[in-house]
Order: sequence, then structure tokens, then C-alpha cells
Amino acid sequence: MSKQIRFNAFQMNAPSHQSPGLWTHPRDEGSRYTQPGYWTELAQLLEAGRFDAIFLADVLGVYEVYGSSADAALRYGVQVPLNDPLALVPLIAAATEHLGIGVTAALTYEHPYTFARRISTLDHLSGGRIGWNIVTGYLDSAARNLGLEQQLGHDARYDLADEYLDVVYKLWEKSWDDDAVVRDKARGIFTDPAKVHPINHHGRHYTVPGIHLCEPSPQRTPMLYQAGASPRGTAFAARHAEATFVSGPSIAVVKKYVNDTRSTLEAAGRDPASVLIYAQALIITGATDDEARSKYEDYLNHIDVDAALALLSGWTGVDFSKLPLDATIDYIETQAGRSALASLSEADPSHRWTVHEAAQFIGLGGRGPVLVGDAGQVADQLEAWMDATGIDGFNLAFAVSHDSMRDVVELVVPELQRRGRYPTEYTAGTLRHKLHGKGPRLAASHPGRQVTIDVPLQSAA
Ligand SMILES: Cc1cc2nc3c(=O)[nH]c(=O)nc-3n(C[C@H](O)[C@H](O)[C@H](O)COP(=O)(O)O)c2cc1C
Repeated sequence: MSKQIRFNAFQMNAPSHQSPGLWTHPRDEGSRYTQPGYWTELAQLLEAGRFDAIFLADVLGVYEVYGSSADAALRYGVQVPLNDPLALVPLIAAATEHLGIGVTAALTYEHPYTFARRISTLDHLSGGRIGWNIVTGYLDSAARNLGLEQQLGHDARYDLADEYLDVVYKLWEKSWDDDAVVRDKARGIFTDPAKVHPINHHGRHYTVPGIHLCEPSPQRTPMLYQAGASPRGTAFAARHAEATFVSGPSIAVVKKYVNDTRSTLEAAGRDPASVLIYAQALIITGATDDEARSKYEDYLNHIDVDAALALLSGWTGVDFSKLPLDATIDYIETQAGRSALASLSEADPSHRWTVHEAAQFIGLGGRGPVLVGDAGQVADQLEAWMDATGIDGFNLAFAVSHDSMRDVVELVVPELQRRGRYPTEYTAGTLRHKLHGKGPRLAASHPGRQVTIDVPLQSAA
């Protein structure tokens, strides 16, 4: 039987995200991003459409590689202004019952001890619906404002991330025994001290001798997402991720990524199917094919080439203002993200991208394909992508908020359900259980469950 298709909504706590320029569309509501109702309406819509999760992207700096200035990013609203994604979680959790809530947090700039506490708190408040998109950042502007001269090198960030993960695993998984909290009013004991363990972490980057401050939350470790597709990024994902995001312009590029990820997982001794892979896409649909195509033409008029190049320059670390629009894009190694540039150059040698073509492409839906047509035509394309690439579902960007998501929920979801390729109900339980069907906790073989702490003899009894 064909695999079910999963949807994830790709969003950001900002007026615009993956379609820079489209905030100028008369129907776009992105400028309401500071209002709670903007998020609760969206979350309820996604839940009605049985989306796995809303996934909130984040960066801690401004896009200022383009022309060595933040002017374009500010003027065109390129992921700035940008509010904190974690603060949206309680709002969304209170407005929904099942929707997963994925938050992006760059580990490079926050101590694991405080971060682990914030995530445990949100996992409690959401009833175990939190996911963490583990990122290391790609903007020097973030590093500079957090006290560094520049960001750590590309691979060094992943090395730091490996130790960071060890620390948070120890806090989430090993510090508190399942039965540590007794809440026994008669005996006057809230927590049995013998069942709470200092983690005694003394590593290269972090020293955390003490205990986690939170009692175990429903998932303990949040559902772990990752999105780096360079060789070092894929190796990191193969160790830690339970789901990954990929962005590629064509079936060929995405298929290559999926094959690399699955074989790296196998080499790392993990089941290659144990990681869910979501590919970025934008769906533009309508009641008829004509309606969908006229929306598409209309949206194309709102693409902003400067804004798109500001975004691409930030992702890749290459200042595209220095290149003519008809120059072809070559891969060069930078210390920013690597797979974004690779996906527009070496990942598919049969296609040579010009700067202008890349800007037009990114300007509508970011680095994924744009699927246009009535519900049946879109469903055909989604099925073709699923079957040709081996992905598990789609990370859906939007053109116009919230019209793009409403069209998917009202038109495409029912069509996929009719075809038996999309869930009609949620599974009960935590986000991890909904996605992997094996209970709330990390798999027993996952490195997060395998970390050890030195438990002093008297408290090990
Ligand atoms: C779909 C997708 C979403 C991403 N979201 C974020 C994000 O919100 N914040 C961030 O700092 N990086 C984000 N990234 C970037 C990755 O985490 C990673 O830093 C980047 O792909 C570079 O890693 P690589 O060189 O291993 O590919 C995203 C990447 C993809 C493909």
C-alpha cells in the first residue's frame, strides 16, 4: 500500500517568511503576526486539516550579507522584524488539541541548562506536543550580537552541537527517575531526593554538574527535527534526528538528499525508515485549474528580486549584489549554510541556475517546488513526488497568509483523503507517538537514551 502523505506548515513569527515580497499582496495578513488571533486562527485551521505540526523557523540575526547591509532585509521585510517563536507555543497549545508545535532554536547561542528547562516547561504545557528543530545558525550577524567576532566554522558548529545534545539528553532523560515525583501530601514528600540525579557533565564546551530543574515532561526529550543537508549535517541528523526537513527545487535534488540520509542512517546502525523526511513545497490551488493558474500569475507579480537575493545571500554567505543577474551560480564553500547553495548548483549538474532565475524561484515559496493546479492535479503531483523521492511528506510554505494554507486544507486535504493517502483523524498521544506510533519517549536505542551519567552510589540504590 502507498505511504500516507504528511503535512507540516512552515511558518515564522514575522510578517513574511519563504516568499519575500508576497506580503504586499492585498490578501496577505502577515502584518498581523504580532496578534494572538493570527496564530490561533492558523493553528486551528491546520488542525482541521490534520497537519502533523506547525513548524516555526527562527534566526537570531538580520540578513545583512546582501550589499553588506541590513537595508534590503529591513525595507522588504525579509524575516525581520522577527519575534520569538517559543513565546507562541502556549497560545497555540491552548487553541488546539493535537497539532504538533515545532520550534527552531539555535543551540549555538543559548546555554543547554536554561534551554532544557524552557523546552521541558513547554512540553508540559502542550501535553507533549513540542518538537525542536535543532539548528546551529548561519548568520554572522547573530554571532556578533551575542558576543563573538563571527560565527564558529561550519563543521565546528556541528561538533559543538554534539556535546550540546549530550548535555540536554542527560538533563531530559537521566536526571529524574520516572517515579521521582510522588506528590504525597500525607507524608509531606513532593519529590524523593534519591531519585533525582546531578548529571555531572564536564565537557569541552559545557560544565553542568547539577540536576535538571523540571520534572519529566510527557516526551522528556522533545521530538527532534533537523534540517542540515551537508555531509556533516547529514551525519549529525543520522545520529540525532527523528525527522528532517529538506529543500530542493527538483525531484532529482530531493531524491539525492533522501538517499544520502537513509544510507547514512543505515551506516550509523539506525533503521533508515526511522526518520521522517519532509520536503519543502508551495501549493497554489483553486476550485479549478484556471483559478489556480491565475492566482499563480498574480503572485508572480509580487516577487521581489532584491528581497529574494537578500534571503539567498544570508542563507549561503555569498553576497549576490556583487554578481550580475545573468551570471550562473557556482558552488563555493562558505561558513554559512552549505546545502542551499549546493541545491542551486552542484546538486543537479544538468541545470545551470542564473542569479535572476534563482531569485525568481526563491521569491515564491523559497527553495522548494511550486505545485499549481486544481486539487486533483496537485494531489497527482504530491503523489508523484512522494513515490519518486521516498520522502514521508511535505513542509508547506505559503505565498499569501493564510489563504495558501486555507486552500490546502479545504481543497487538497479532502482530495488526498478521498484517495486514501492522507489521515482523516489524529492518533491520540504525544507528538512523537503521533509521528512514530511507538509511545511518548525516544527509542531505547537512540543516543539520547544511551547517554550515561555518573550516579553516586548512595542515590543509585
Ligand atoms: C526546511 C529548512 C528549514 C530551516 N530552518 C532553519 C531555521 O529556522 N533557522 C536556522 O538557523 N536554520 C534553518 N535551516 C538551516 C539548517 O538548519 C542548516 O543550518 C542549513 O541547512 C545549513 O546546514 P548544512 O550546511 O548542513 O546544510 C533550515 C533548513 C531547511 C532545509
